[in-house]
Amino acid sequence: MFDLSSVDLLDAFTRELELCKLREGEHVVVLAEPASRGDYVAAAFGAAKACGAHVIAATVPGGSPAPMPSTHTGAGPGLTSVLTDTTAQDLLKSADLVVDLTQEGFIHAPVQQEILRAGTRIIFVCDAPDVLIRNLPRPTDKDEVLEGVGLLERSEVMRVTSAAGTDLTVRLSGAKPEFQCGFADDPGRWDHWPSTMVLCWPEISDGRIVLAPGDILLPFKEYVRDPVTLQVEGGHIAKVSGGAEADLLATFFDDAQDQWARSLSHMGWGLMRTADWFATAMYGKGDLMGMDARAFAGNFLWSTGPHPVLGRESYAHLDIAMRGCTVSVDGTDVVVDGTLQDR
Ligand SMILES: [Fe+2]
Repeated sequence: MFDLSSVDLLDAFTRELELCKLREGEHVVVLAEPASRGDYVAAAFGAAKACGAHVIAATVPGGSPAPMPSTHTGAGPGLTSVLTDTTAQDLLKSADLVVDLTQEGFIHAPVQQEILRAGTRIIFVCDAPDVLIRNLPRPTDKDEVLEGVGLLERSEVMRVTSAAGTDLTVRLSGAKPEFQCGFADDPGRWDHWPSTMVLCWPEISDGRIVLAPGDILLPFKEYVRDPVTLQVEGGHIAKVSGGAEADLLATFFDDAQDQWARSLSHMGWGLMRTADWFATAMYGKGDLMGMDARAFAGNFLWSTGPHPVLGRESYAHLDIAMRGCTVSVDGTDVVVDGTLQDR
């Protein structure tokens, strides 16, 4: 029987590469590992051809015969086979666009920064087809997230509150605001399809974060069932209390044996209006990365562990997506009770 599963994906991948401003005659590398989806490799390959680009499909070893479930989470060291192979790195540096179809890419590895410095743009893709196609970016998404970045850049304080009891004050000085918009169109740009979010890397935040039932813990891909209160002092989690998930989180922080496990990392809000909060419930854990939760329009996304701006290396990385919060930046409400405010 022939396999035509990539054909249905070809239009979406072509649209995505057009959003990445792929031009005729540019060089594309489709990067895969043995566990990558073959239909995505074929669709990306065909889409690059449809755009008139040169294309090479490169498959590198996955790095471990027994990959941890921590892959596919954005929390691990990344694809070690690329980290140790200068020929692979040179190939990626020589490309105009890399379509990264590996399980985890090398998001947190310094090698990725080297590749980007060469001017290569990288688009990372690893969620399920429905997640990709439902959340196919709009060209205007970039303008919208850039507005949020501008607001953070000229502001001093972000305040996050919720009916559940969250009241967190975040100092924005030196917090290096960033965005994801779902496509990589500028030289040296990394982005993630799908995603639409504004984030920053603060050092100091104080107050409390109260997780409400239905909030989502990543990379566990689990919903919170009982309220959890996290006391935050100077950017670190001083105390965790509450129901079942409070014990889970406290145990995670202890087990990590990582000095940064209880330190806050990036935080921001999602703008992806097509995101589905229930995708996390509908898929097997290995079938999706969880960008519906991370970029959900009107969420408050915060995290723990690695902090590149402060030079903190850590694999103890949690992303926690909350609904029902109000996010206010120097008095401008960007999210009110979990609803993204229109521009
Ligand atoms: Fe994260």
